[in-house]
Amino acid sequence: MTKTGSGYFTEENSAEVVAARNEGARDPRLKFAMEVIIRKLHEAVKEIEPTQEEWFEAIMFLTRTGHMCDDWRQEFILLSDVLGVSMLVDAVNSRRPTGASENTVLGPFHLDGAPEYEMGHNICLDQKGEDMVVRGRITDTDGSPIEGAKVDVWQANDEGFYDVQQKGHQPDFNLRGVFTTGADGTYWFRAVKPKFYPIPDDGPVGKLLGALGRHPFRPAHLHFIVTAEGYDPLTTHIFDPDDPHIDSDAVFGVKESLLADFDLVEDPARSAEVGFPGPYWDVNFDFALART
Ligand code: BEZ
Ligand code: FE
Repeated sequence: MTKTGSGYFTEENSAEVVAARNEGARDPRLKFAMEVIIRKLHEAVKEIEPTQEEWFEAIMFLTRTGHMCDDWRQEFILLSDVLGVSMLVDAVNSRRPTGASENTVLGPFHLDGAPEYEMGHNICLDQKGEDMVVRGRITDTDGSPIEGAKVDVWQANDEGFYDVQQKGHQPDFNLRGVFTTGADGTYWFRAVKPKFYPIPDDGPVGKLLGALGRHPFRPAHLHFIVTAEGYDPLTTHIFDPDDPHIDSDAVFGVKESLLADFDLVEDPARSAEVGFPGPYWDVNFDFALART
């Protein structure tokens, strides 16, 4: 009796045979996801035709990635970031109507429970760096102001480090704060100009970037989570368009609509108005929220 069509594994029918074995899966979503993943993975092996040594090296790379993970370090998320998968998952989950601000990756440095401040507060607690004012409006997609919107902001310092990366060196909750808009929807706060920084690159993902001829840097940015009752929460950044890495963000987070203008203000009268002793950077950026 011929074995053709028996369901035994061959190079040609490999993906179908494996997927068919999952027929009894209880969760249809898991079954669907595994069918797609198996099909694409087998397709990749057939195209790449790895040697046994290469496949073992791939397994060892994933093993090292797992060993690098602990409560503070998530090397698999970094891998997803540098492969553009984090941004793709974000894009698929944050499709918005025209006129609404765009999302980008959350990143690992957000902290719950940052201090709530009055507008104008300086979130730089150690006076290090070039002074900066960030201001703008929170509106709906028709341009009407949103009252009571929470603007949760965090950023790296002028050396490219978050407070949590320099515990004991930077004050706790340095360069973080939560602001609440009034009836006119405006927000403003003082801070320092952020600097570009490398994503953690002392592990297998950093080595992979090096082997691929890529750098680990993220261009200078400020993170925002903007929330308001009745609106889709916005998790995003604004970027310095003059940053040397603006066109090669290691995690692909930059979007055209998120480029802000960083204008140097050298007028002493304007510095006095915002309470700075000398020149400062002025960043004006509006966010439009989509209704849920
Ligand atoms: C961040 O911008 O904080 C970030 C995003 C992805 C990976 C590492 C850091
Ligand atoms: Fe960041």
